[in-house]
Amino acid sequence: MKPSLSNPLVLPCGATLPNRLLKSATTEGMADTHDRPTPALEELYRRWSEGGSGTLITGNVMVDRRYLERPGNVVIEDESALPELSRWAKAGTVAGNHFWIQISHPGRQCKRIVSSHPVAPSATQLHLLGNFGKPRALNEDEIIEIIRRYARAASIAKKAGFTGVQIHGAHGYLCNQFLSPRVNQRTDNWGGILQNRARFLREIVQATRHEVGPAFPISVKLNSSDFQQGGFTLEESCQVARWLVEDGIDLLEISGGTYEKLQMMGDGQKKMAEGTRKREAYFLEYAASIRAGLKVPLAVTGGFRSRSVMEEALSKGELDVIGVARPLCSEPDISSRLIARTAEAGRADEENLRLGRGWLGPTSENKGIRAANFLAMISWFYEQLLLIGSGKNPDFRITAWQSLIRNQTREIKLALARRRVSK
Ligand SMILES: Cc1cc2nc3c(=O)[nH]c(=O)nc-3n(C[C@H](O)[C@H](O)[C@H](O)COP(=O)(O)O)c2cc1C
Repeated sequence: MKPSLSNPLVLPCGATLPNRLLKSATTEGMADTHDRPTPALEELYRRWSEGGSGTLITGNVMVDRRYLERPGNVVIEDESALPELSRWAKAGTVAGNHFWIQISHPGRQCKRIVSSHPVAPSATQLHLLGNFGKPRALNEDEIIEIIRRYARAASIAKKAGFTGVQIHGAHGYLCNQFLSPRVNQRTDNWGGILQNRARFLREIVQATRHEVGPAFPISVKLNSSDFQQGGFTLEESCQVARWLVEDGIDLLEISGGTYEKLQMMGDGQKKMAEGTRKREAYFLEYAASIRAGLKVPLAVTGGFRSRSVMEEALSKGELDVIGVARPLCSEPDISSRLIARTAEAGRADEENLRLGRGWLGPTSENKGIRAANFLAMISWFYEQLLLIGSGKNPDFRITAWQSLIRNQTREIKLALARRRVSK
């Protein structure tokens, strides 16, 4: 029988995902000044759990409080926030779904308001709206320490009641920086040939497996490509995917792009094949190359908006799990509705998922303008998450520019408050 959205999926570790819809990671920025989960995060994930997705993945959860992707990230360094983490895990699993922590380190994509002295594989700075400082190249002891931090965060997440973890290997964060020859210019065992560039991510997966045991789901989110001159390529992604299977992952989630190339949100689509655009999900063609011969379930995220496209991809065996992010920020219960429709045999109409009014579109070839547009767009979704977390419904009347101003103000306030408590 051909798989459909409502079908469960057994992972290599033995765990079963209740259905094929996965809420892809969405950074929330809702932690308290001590970087602990809050009641608002519990409310947000309770709502998503009740909304019917078989698997929920948190936003970036950081392994080192000195380096964040944005103020308001949850951080797991030790067990000090175990009670808060446990409450979050409980709220996010009320409907019996899976709830996984996305473990991450920003590397050079660490905002200046958090730290103007980030760390990275090499001292290659990210120049984007002046938001990022010049990084310092990590030494080998520090690299090994960071690997240990990922594994420790995974074991604490398991202890707190999360049902799996995802290592963030995509979107230009630290693992992706190691993979990219454009950013990683090291000449030691951690740079140069692909085997060396992939060592950081692979050792994280191996150390995590060692910590959590054989029956706990480990996923990796990986770029199909960085879509950048001199960046991580599709061919390299296919090889890294095969290595990650050897290392014992349970689910590979495919995305693409970095802060400089926002392909994960569909930017640059015009340059992609017409067929791909028609089919909404812009990484499907890339995923086909990665999937060939791959013996692990595959999720693809980016652009899925209609049930028929999702069902077609599943029934053709192009993937095993559908990743969705933005539609679930503006309609948190969309998964239940998609699945309910699936059960109505023969029904041909499509449930088009509303994107909301946040997307202004890439209006310019100018890198700075594109980045500002992107920030406004994503801020609109942050606003919706805040509303859901406060027990309200998404509000489509909010504009992207209002959201941008509110988000920037909020982040600066939070960054200053964090500094005060850490003194
Ligand atoms: C508000 C928001 C926050 C996001 N945060 C993360 C994140 O923390 N980690 C991550 O891997 N991707 C993150 N993403 C990217 C999504 O997981 C996803 O890859 C992307 O939005 C494309 O899927 P979509 O077209 O269904 O939105 C975020 C996206 C949005 C809209």
